[in-house]
Amino acid sequence: MLVTRQPVLRRFWYAVMPMHRLDAGPQPFRLLGEDIVLWKTADGTPAAVRDRCCHRTAKLSKGFVEGGHIVCGYHGWTYDCSGACVKIPQAADQPVPPGAKVPAYHCQERFGYAWVALDEPLRDLPLPEEESLGWRRVHQFDETWRTGALRLMENSFDSAHFAFVHKGTFGQADQHKPQHFSITETDYGFEARMVITINNPPESHRITGSTEPTTERRFSNQWHLPFLRRLGLVYPSGVQHVIYTCATPIDDERIQLIQWLYRNDTEADCPADLINDWDTRVVMEDKEILETVNADAPVDVGRRDEQSMASDRPGLIMRKRLLALLQAHGEAEAHGWPRNAQPREEVAAC
Ligand code: FES
Ligand code: CO
Repeated sequence: MLVTRQPVLRRFWYAVMPMHRLDAGPQPFRLLGEDIVLWKTADGTPAAVRDRCCHRTAKLSKGFVEGGHIVCGYHGWTYDCSGACVKIPQAADQPVPPGAKVPAYHCQERFGYAWVALDEPLRDLPLPEEESLGWRRVHQFDETWRTGALRLMENSFDSAHFAFVHKGTFGQADQHKPQHFSITETDYGFEARMVITINNPPESHRITGSTEPTTERRFSNQWHLPFLRRLGLVYPSGVQHVIYTCATPIDDERIQLIQWLYRNDTEADCPADLINDWDTRVVMEDKEILETVNADAPVDVGRRDEQSMASDRPGLIMRKRLLALLQAHGEAEAHGWPRNAQPREEVAAC
Protein backbone atom coordinates (compact mmCIF):
# COMPACT_ATOMS: atom_id res chain seq x y z
CA MET A 1 0.00 0.00 0.00
CA LEU A 2 1.43 3.30 -1.03
CA VAL A 3 0.30 5.51 1.82
CA THR A 4 0.63 8.73 -0.12
CA ARG A 5 -1.94 7.50 -2.64
CA GLN A 6 -4.67 6.45 -0.20
CA PRO A 7 -6.68 9.61 0.57
CA VAL A 8 -8.51 8.02 3.52
CA LEU A 9 -5.25 7.90 5.46
CA ARG A 10 -5.32 11.70 5.46
CA ARG A 11 -8.34 11.43 7.78
CA PHE A 12 -6.42 10.24 10.85
CA TRP A 13 -4.42 12.08 13.46
CA TYR A 14 -0.65 11.64 13.40
CA ALA A 15 1.94 12.75 15.95
CA VAL A 16 4.45 14.75 13.97
CA MET A 17 6.87 16.31 16.47
CA PRO A 18 7.38 17.20 20.14
CA MET A 19 5.79 20.57 20.92
CA HIS A 20 9.00 22.03 22.31
CA ARG A 21 10.55 21.99 18.84
CA LEU A 22 8.16 24.76 17.83
CA ASP A 23 9.82 27.08 20.36
CA ALA A 24 12.59 27.53 17.77
CA GLY A 25 10.14 28.89 15.15
CA PRO A 26 8.28 27.32 12.20
CA GLN A 27 9.16 23.68 11.55
CA PRO A 28 8.71 21.75 8.29
CA PHE A 29 7.33 18.21 8.17
CA ARG A 30 6.30 15.91 5.35
CA LEU A 31 3.13 13.98 6.19
CA LEU A 32 1.81 11.39 3.73
CA GLY A 33 3.93 13.05 1.07
CA GLU A 34 2.53 16.52 1.75
CA ASP A 35 4.92 19.27 2.82
CA ILE A 36 3.47 21.12 5.79
CA VAL A 37 4.74 23.70 8.24
CA LEU A 38 3.88 23.92 11.92
CA TRP A 39 4.22 26.83 14.29
CA LYS A 40 3.05 27.96 17.69
CA THR A 41 0.21 30.50 17.65
CA ALA A 42 -0.29 33.35 20.13
CA ASP A 43 -2.11 31.16 22.67
CA GLY A 44 0.58 28.48 22.50
CA THR A 45 -1.42 25.99 20.44
CA PRO A 46 0.12 24.55 17.27
CA ALA A 47 -1.09 25.34 13.75
CA ALA A 48 -0.29 23.65 10.44
CA VAL A 49 -0.62 24.84 6.83
CA ARG A 50 0.88 23.82 3.50
CA ASP A 51 4.54 24.74 3.37
CA ARG A 52 4.19 26.84 0.23
CA CYS A 53 3.50 30.58 0.11
CA CYS A 54 0.70 31.52 -2.30
CA HIS A 55 2.70 34.51 -3.56
CA ARG A 56 5.82 33.06 -5.19
CA THR A 57 5.81 29.58 -3.59
CA ALA A 58 8.59 30.09 -1.05
CA LYS A 59 8.62 27.61 1.81
CA LEU A 60 6.88 29.18 4.78
CA SER A 61 9.05 27.07 7.07
CA LYS A 62 11.91 29.39 6.07
CA GLY A 63 9.95 32.31 7.52
CA PHE A 64 9.24 33.33 11.11
CA VAL A 65 6.43 33.77 13.62
CA GLU A 66 5.12 37.21 14.48
CA GLY A 67 2.11 37.90 16.69
CA GLY A 68 1.12 34.24 16.48
CA HIS A 69 1.03 34.31 12.66
CA ILE A 70 3.48 32.79 10.25
CA VAL A 71 5.37 35.23 8.02
CA CYS A 72 6.90 34.25 4.69
CA GLY A 73 10.62 34.95 4.65
CA TYR A 74 10.59 36.11 1.01
CA HIS A 75 8.29 39.18 0.96
CA GLY A 76 6.57 39.00 4.33
CA TRP A 77 3.08 37.83 3.44
CA THR A 78 1.54 36.81 6.75
CA TYR A 79 -0.88 33.93 7.41
CA ASP A 80 -3.11 32.98 10.31
CA CYS A 81 -3.88 29.45 11.50
CA SER A 82 -6.73 29.11 8.99
CA GLY A 83 -4.25 29.65 6.17
CA ALA A 84 -5.71 33.05 5.28
CA CYS A 85 -3.24 35.74 4.33
CA VAL A 86 -3.89 38.56 6.81
CA LYS A 87 -1.17 40.99 5.76
CA ILE A 88 0.71 41.94 2.62
CA PRO A 89 3.32 44.43 3.83
CA GLN A 90 3.78 46.01 0.40
CA ALA A 91 0.01 46.81 0.22
CA ALA A 92 -0.85 47.24 3.90
CA ASP A 93 -3.43 49.95 3.14
CA GLN A 94 -5.45 47.72 0.82
CA PRO A 95 -7.65 44.71 1.56
CA VAL A 96 -5.99 41.32 1.16
CA PRO A 97 -7.33 39.61 -2.00
CA PRO A 98 -9.69 36.75 -1.06
CA GLY A 99 -7.64 34.23 -3.04
CA ALA A 100 -4.57 34.88 -0.92
CA LYS A 101 -4.55 31.79 1.28
CA VAL A 102 -2.92 28.42 1.72
CA PRO A 103 -4.53 25.10 2.73
CA ALA A 104 -4.70 24.63 6.50
CA TYR A 105 -4.84 21.33 8.40
CA HIS A 106 -6.35 20.08 11.63
CA CYS A 107 -3.72 20.50 14.32
CA GLN A 108 -3.69 20.06 18.08
CA GLU A 109 -1.35 19.44 20.99
CA ARG A 110 -1.74 16.19 22.91
CA PHE A 111 0.62 14.41 25.29
CA GLY A 112 3.46 16.84 24.56
CA TYR A 113 3.29 16.41 20.77
CA ALA A 114 1.82 18.31 17.85
CA TRP A 115 -0.71 16.14 15.99
CA VAL A 116 -1.98 16.76 12.48
CA ALA A 117 -4.84 15.39 10.38
CA LEU A 118 -4.66 16.52 6.76
CA ASP A 119 -8.41 16.05 6.16
CA GLU A 120 -11.50 15.79 8.39
CA PRO A 121 -10.58 13.21 11.07
CA LEU A 122 -12.60 10.00 11.14
CA ARG A 123 -12.04 9.51 14.86
CA ASP A 124 -10.61 11.21 17.91
CA LEU A 125 -7.22 10.44 19.33
CA PRO A 126 -7.23 7.72 21.96
CA LEU A 127 -7.04 9.28 25.40
CA PRO A 128 -4.45 7.47 27.49
CA GLU A 129 -5.98 6.76 30.89
CA GLU A 130 -2.44 7.08 32.25
CA GLU A 131 -2.69 10.84 31.74
CA SER A 132 -5.66 11.10 34.08
CA LEU A 133 -4.00 8.74 36.55
CA GLY A 134 -1.08 11.15 36.79
CA TRP A 135 1.59 8.64 35.81
CA ARG A 136 4.89 10.11 34.70
CA ARG A 137 5.37 10.51 30.97
CA VAL A 138 8.76 9.83 29.41
CA HIS A 139 9.59 10.97 25.88
CA GLN A 140 11.47 8.26 24.06
CA PHE A 141 11.92 8.65 20.30
CA ASP A 142 11.45 11.19 17.55
CA GLU A 143 13.43 10.00 14.57
CA THR A 144 13.15 9.15 10.90
CA TRP A 145 13.34 5.54 9.73
CA ARG A 146 13.52 4.29 6.17
CA THR A 147 10.65 1.83 6.39
CA GLY A 148 6.88 1.67 5.94
CA ALA A 149 4.36 2.51 8.66
CA LEU A 150 2.62 -0.86 8.39
CA ARG A 151 5.99 -2.59 8.59
CA LEU A 152 6.68 -0.97 11.94
CA MET A 153 3.19 -1.71 13.23
CA GLU A 154 3.26 -5.39 12.37
CA ASN A 155 6.75 -5.68 13.80
CA SER A 156 5.39 -4.33 17.09
CA PHE A 157 3.04 -7.33 17.32
CA ASP A 158 5.38 -9.95 15.92
CA SER A 159 6.56 -12.19 18.74
CA ALA A 160 8.45 -14.45 16.33
CA HIS A 161 11.29 -11.98 15.83
CA PHE A 162 12.31 -11.67 19.49
CA ALA A 163 14.53 -14.77 19.43
CA PHE A 164 16.34 -13.52 16.36
CA VAL A 165 16.38 -9.73 16.20
CA HIS A 166 16.49 -9.21 19.97
CA LYS A 167 18.79 -12.03 21.01
CA GLY A 168 21.31 -9.38 22.05
CA THR A 169 18.89 -7.79 24.53
CA PHE A 170 15.69 -9.42 25.83
CA GLY A 171 15.07 -12.20 23.29
CA GLN A 172 15.71 -15.82 24.13
CA ALA A 173 17.43 -17.42 21.16
CA ASP A 174 15.87 -20.82 21.84
CA GLN A 175 12.32 -19.63 22.48
CA HIS A 176 10.54 -19.22 19.20
CA LYS A 177 6.88 -19.34 20.22
CA PRO A 178 4.88 -17.20 22.64
CA GLN A 179 3.42 -19.27 25.47
CA HIS A 180 0.03 -17.69 25.11
CA PHE A 181 -1.37 -15.52 22.39
CA SER A 182 -4.89 -14.18 21.84
CA ILE A 183 -6.36 -11.41 19.70
CA THR A 184 -9.65 -9.60 20.13
CA GLU A 185 -10.77 -7.32 17.33
CA THR A 186 -12.25 -3.98 18.38
CA ASP A 187 -13.66 -0.92 16.69
CA TYR A 188 -10.29 0.85 16.92
CA GLY A 189 -8.30 -2.18 15.67
CA PHE A 190 -7.46 -5.05 18.02
CA GLU A 191 -5.94 -6.05 21.31
CA ALA A 192 -3.37 -8.82 21.40
CA ARG A 193 -2.54 -10.49 24.68
CA MET A 194 0.48 -12.64 25.12
CA VAL A 195 2.60 -14.18 27.80
CA ILE A 196 6.26 -14.66 27.08
CA THR A 197 9.42 -15.33 29.03
CA ILE A 198 12.24 -12.97 28.15
CA ASN A 199 15.78 -12.29 29.24
CA ASN A 200 16.38 -9.78 32.00
CA PRO A 201 20.06 -8.80 31.79
CA PRO A 202 21.58 -6.53 34.47
CA GLU A 203 20.96 -3.39 32.35
CA SER A 204 17.19 -3.92 32.71
CA HIS A 205 17.07 -4.86 36.41
CA ARG A 206 15.98 -1.43 37.61
CA ILE A 207 13.39 -1.20 34.84
CA THR A 208 11.81 -4.56 35.60
CA GLY A 209 12.38 -4.44 39.36
CA SER A 210 13.75 -7.97 39.21
CA THR A 211 17.26 -9.43 39.39
CA GLU A 212 16.16 -12.80 38.04
CA PRO A 213 17.90 -13.73 34.76
CA THR A 214 14.52 -14.08 33.04
CA THR A 215 11.06 -12.67 33.68
CA GLU A 216 7.61 -13.60 32.48
CA ARG A 217 5.86 -10.73 30.71
CA ARG A 218 2.17 -10.28 30.24
CA PHE A 219 1.54 -7.94 27.37
CA SER A 220 -1.61 -6.19 26.38
CA ASN A 221 -0.77 -4.79 22.99
CA GLN A 222 -3.35 -2.63 21.21
CA TRP A 223 -3.27 -1.65 17.58
CA HIS A 224 -5.17 1.52 16.70
CA LEU A 225 -5.93 2.12 13.03
CA PRO A 226 -3.92 2.99 11.12
CA PHE A 227 -0.45 3.26 12.64
CA LEU A 228 -0.51 3.63 16.43
CA ARG A 229 0.03 1.03 19.11
CA ARG A 230 -0.26 0.94 22.88
CA LEU A 231 1.79 -1.66 24.66
CA GLY A 232 0.91 -2.21 28.30
CA LEU A 233 2.92 -4.51 30.49
CA VAL A 234 3.32 -5.24 34.17
CA TYR A 235 6.78 -5.93 35.58
CA PRO A 236 7.47 -8.45 38.35
CA SER A 237 7.80 -5.47 40.72
CA GLY A 238 4.17 -4.55 39.98
CA VAL A 239 5.25 -1.41 38.15
CA GLN A 240 3.15 -0.76 35.07
CA HIS A 241 4.89 0.36 31.91
CA VAL A 242 2.80 1.59 28.99
CA ILE A 243 4.39 2.49 25.66
CA TYR A 244 2.75 4.49 22.86
CA THR A 245 4.35 4.09 19.45
CA CYS A 246 3.40 6.15 16.41
CA ALA A 247 4.63 5.17 12.95
CA THR A 248 3.83 8.52 11.36
CA PRO A 249 3.98 8.11 7.58
CA ILE A 250 6.29 10.71 6.02
CA ASP A 251 5.95 9.25 2.54
CA ASP A 252 5.99 5.82 0.91
CA GLU A 253 9.52 5.12 2.03
CA ARG A 254 9.88 6.67 5.47
CA ILE A 255 8.23 7.07 8.83
CA GLN A 256 8.76 9.31 11.80
CA LEU A 257 9.00 7.04 14.83
CA ILE A 258 7.48 8.87 17.77
CA GLN A 259 7.32 7.02 21.05
CA TRP A 260 6.63 7.90 24.66
CA LEU A 261 5.76 5.89 27.73
CA TYR A 262 4.03 6.09 31.09
CA ARG A 263 5.08 4.46 34.36
CA ASN A 264 3.44 4.47 37.73
CA ASP A 265 6.74 4.87 39.58
CA THR A 266 9.11 7.80 40.01
CA GLU A 267 12.30 9.08 38.44
CA ALA A 268 14.10 8.11 41.65
CA ASP A 269 12.80 4.54 41.31
CA CYS A 270 14.03 4.24 37.73
CA PRO A 271 15.61 7.17 35.85
CA ALA A 272 14.17 7.98 32.41
CA ASP A 273 17.69 7.95 30.91
CA LEU A 274 18.17 4.38 32.00
CA ILE A 275 14.87 3.32 30.41
CA ASN A 276 15.68 5.17 27.21
CA ASP A 277 19.21 3.76 26.97
CA TRP A 278 17.81 0.24 27.22
CA ASP A 279 14.94 0.85 24.80
CA THR A 280 17.29 2.52 22.33
CA ARG A 281 19.31 -0.69 22.19
CA VAL A 282 16.12 -2.71 21.63
CA VAL A 283 14.64 -0.38 19.04
CA MET A 284 17.89 -0.09 17.08
CA GLU A 285 17.80 -3.86 16.68
CA ASP A 286 14.39 -3.49 15.03
CA LYS A 287 15.54 -0.55 12.91
CA GLU A 288 18.47 -2.43 11.48
CA ILE A 289 16.24 -5.18 10.07
CA LEU A 290 13.19 -3.04 9.23
CA GLU A 291 15.25 -0.77 7.02
CA THR A 292 16.05 -3.81 4.87
CA VAL A 293 12.43 -4.80 4.16
CA ASN A 294 10.37 -3.51 1.26
CA ALA A 295 8.71 -0.39 2.68
CA ASP A 296 5.55 -1.09 0.66
CA ALA A 297 3.62 -3.76 2.58
CA PRO A 298 0.67 -5.09 0.55
CA VAL A 299 -2.68 -5.05 2.36
CA ASP A 300 -4.52 -7.10 -0.25
CA VAL A 301 -3.61 -10.60 0.92
CA GLY A 302 -4.96 -12.07 -2.32
CA ARG A 303 -2.16 -10.35 -4.21
CA ARG A 304 0.88 -10.57 -2.05
CA ASP A 305 4.32 -11.84 -2.73
CA GLU A 306 4.97 -12.78 0.88
CA GLN A 307 4.40 -16.06 2.68
CA SER A 308 3.04 -16.09 6.23
CA MET A 309 3.00 -18.19 9.39
CA ALA A 310 0.67 -18.40 12.39
CA SER A 311 2.48 -15.73 14.41
CA ASP A 312 1.92 -13.24 11.56
CA ARG A 313 -1.76 -13.13 12.43
CA PRO A 314 -1.67 -9.62 13.97
CA GLY A 315 -0.12 -8.21 10.80
CA LEU A 316 -2.61 -10.09 8.64
CA ILE A 317 -5.50 -8.63 10.63
CA MET A 318 -3.99 -5.17 10.16
CA ARG A 319 -3.88 -5.78 6.41
CA LYS A 320 -7.45 -7.02 6.39
CA ARG A 321 -8.69 -4.02 8.35
CA LEU A 322 -6.71 -1.53 6.27
CA LEU A 323 -8.03 -3.08 3.06
CA ALA A 324 -11.57 -2.86 4.46
CA LEU A 325 -10.95 0.79 5.35
CA LEU A 326 -9.84 1.55 1.79
CA GLN A 327 -12.82 -0.29 0.32
CA ALA A 328 -15.26 1.45 2.65
CA HIS A 329 -14.01 4.73 1.20
CA GLY A 330 -14.10 3.60 -2.40
CA GLU A 331 -10.36 3.20 -2.76
CA ALA A 332 -8.33 0.44 -4.36
CA GLU A 333 -4.94 -0.36 -2.95
CA ALA A 334 -2.18 1.60 -4.67
CA HIS A 335 1.00 -0.39 -4.75
CA GLY A 336 4.54 -0.40 -6.01
CA TRP A 337 5.30 -4.07 -5.63
CA PRO A 338 8.38 -5.51 -7.23
CA ARG A 339 8.02 -6.47 -10.87
CA ASN A 340 8.17 -10.18 -10.03
CA ALA A 341 5.16 -9.95 -7.68
CA GLN A 342 2.39 -12.16 -8.99
CA PRO A 343 -1.10 -12.98 -7.81
CA ARG A 344 -0.73 -15.83 -5.36
CA GLU A 345 -2.57 -18.30 -7.60
CA GLU A 346 -0.07 -17.71 -10.39
CA VAL A 347 2.84 -18.27 -8.05
CA ALA A 348 1.27 -21.50 -6.87
CA ALA A 349 0.88 -22.66 -10.45
CA CYS A 350 4.59 -22.18 -11.24
FE1 FES B 1 6.06 34.42 0.09
FE2 FES B 1 6.56 36.33 -1.68
S1 FES B 1 6.93 34.21 -1.85
S2 FES B 1 5.74 36.52 0.29
CO1 CO C 1 11.33 -5.79 17.92
